[in-house]
Amino acid sequence: LAGLHAAGQRAAVAAPDAQGGTEATVLFGSQTGNAKGLAKHLQERLVQAGLRAKVEDLGSYKKSQLKRERTLLIVTSTHGEGEPPDNAKEFHEFLLSDKAPRLQGLKYAVLALGDRSYERFCQTGRDFDLRLEALGAERLLPRAECDVDYEDTASAWIESVVQTLALQAPKAATPPASVIGLPTARPAASAAPAYTRKNPYPATLVENITITGRGSSKEVRHLELAIEGSGLTFEPGDSLGVVPRNCPKLVAEILEALALDGAEPVSGPKGQETTLAQALTSDYEITTLTRPFLERWAALSGARELATLLKEERREQLRQFLVGREIIDVLQLYPVRGLTAREFLQALRPLPPRLYSIASSREADPDVVHLTVGVVRYESHGRTRKGVASTFLAERAAEAGTVPVYVHVNDNFRLPADSNTSIIMVGAGTGVAPFRAFVEQRQVTGARGRNWLIFGDRNFRTDFLYQREWLDYRKQGLLKIDVAFSRDGETKDYVQHRMLDRSRELYAWLEEGAHFYVCGDASRMAPDVHETLVEVVRREGGRSRDDAVAYVKALQAAGRYQRDVY
Ligand code: 2AM
Repeated sequence: LAGLHAAGQRAAVAAPDAQGGTEATVLFGSQTGNAKGLAKHLQERLVQAGLRAKVEDLGSYKKSQLKRERTLLIVTSTHGEGEPPDNAKEFHEFLLSDKAPRLQGLKYAVLALGDRSYERFCQTGRDFDLRLEALGAERLLPRAECDVDYEDTASAWIESVVQTLALQAPKAATPPASVIGLPTARPAASAAPAYTRKNPYPATLVENITITGRGSSKEVRHLELAIEGSGLTFEPGDSLGVVPRNCPKLVAEILEALALDGAEPVSGPKGQETTLAQALTSDYEITTLTRPFLERWAALSGARELATLLKEERREQLRQFLVGREIIDVLQLYPVRGLTAREFLQALRPLPPRLYSIASSREADPDVVHLTVGVVRYESHGRTRKGVASTFLAERAAEAGTVPVYVHVNDNFRLPADSNTSIIMVGAGTGVAPFRAFVEQRQVTGARGRNWLIFGDRNFRTDFLYQREWLDYRKQGLLKIDVAFSRDGETKDYVQHRMLDRSRELYAWLEEGAHFYVCGDASRMAPDVHETLVEVVRREGGRSRDDAVAYVKALQAAGRYQRDVY
């Protein structure tokens, strides 16, 4: 009976539906929500074109379903050194393992998001694409790889998928010609937010203060941006997208290195009329080196040394060369004579916005957004380097008066729906920002759940961000707080050391249903905190390591373990 049932099911799923054509499954692997947004958009476009399509989170997708799929469309981002987003980790591991089934008869396509300044650009998308092919599936169309300015590449790919599937669908399902090939008209159903990456709102900078103490090894600013009347709304966990402008001094140095005139008229990335200096200030990224830029520059300059560095077998040397270097260094090291403004601009990529976790609650004040910004400044190869967005906010925004912003929804980082649920927040450095919004929100809404913050930074005296506020909350009985200062003593004291000191309590909170949040550095802190969480569960739960790993995975799958790491 069981066998019959399974066979019947398989037949039912594989058979064309009444409208003709089988259902396409759109899966997304998403960390900050961009891939998720695109996946939803793709699904909506398919439905508009008369096709059947559903969209699913890779984190909750049932692997047993894979063999039954006929058309699979994967949209995924990549993080850090080629890592899948949290929600795609398990599926990625499974698909690349020898447990993955053969997938003949499956048609698929992959949209990969990434950042070309990373060596393993779009790695997760590449992994999926190549692995599905190796498993016998048929690639419907080539993988698209999107850099940080992903919109245009992504919409072109989405439209190609829609066309390809519409043309393959049986006659009955073929949509009116007017649907096929239409540019990405936004579906009416998803009311588009008024202000976006491409159309940001000019928020007024009303507060800009340094909150690290005198003598701190870091500079952290607390900023407040007025958004009254903008209609912008946000929830704790959301980020603010900031559209920055480059440092005018750096623009001048680049113009000098190229012997070009900033007043020269050029057309910007959106085809608009502007001047070269203006374009370099507002439209293009002029700091971060990417492989495509270096390849262009090697060709333009004819510099052998640079061409050699780009050879596959020189990866390690290239990595070393890139440490502390930016575009200006390459222009000066390998000069090009007689380069035109247009040729230079063609080698650059558009200036991407930067996301900052919002540090205030709308319930407390809907007219203002608070940010906690670590100002990036350092010396390397004989010059002072400045983080584009952080120094824009700290130094240059005041003069302009306004900061172009939009809200980036992050529904993977949310307070528990039930306000009686306890929360444990682990934040290092400026990673404490969203937790300030969390606790503020829980206070103003009178949430009954307990709040526990584990905060870490360098020095107690100068770097205990928002110390007075935390201590006030504690006095009111609203907050339990533990701190770790890494540079006060002989040995490093980190947030995960507090987790271990308090392991019994931490585990008890988890057992009672608490949610666990991590915000801050993705490269070292977040993996260490993750490992420590597994250790806490192993130790206090009397479990094997494997069982502890499964427990933590289950927390993640249930949305009770969420991360906002960068
Ligand atoms: P450090 O720079 O002294 O090593 C915010 O940046 C805080 O995170 C700092 O105190 C920093 O310490 C700390 N940090 C660095 N690496 C970490 C890790 N692997 N785990 C936890 N905290 C870390």
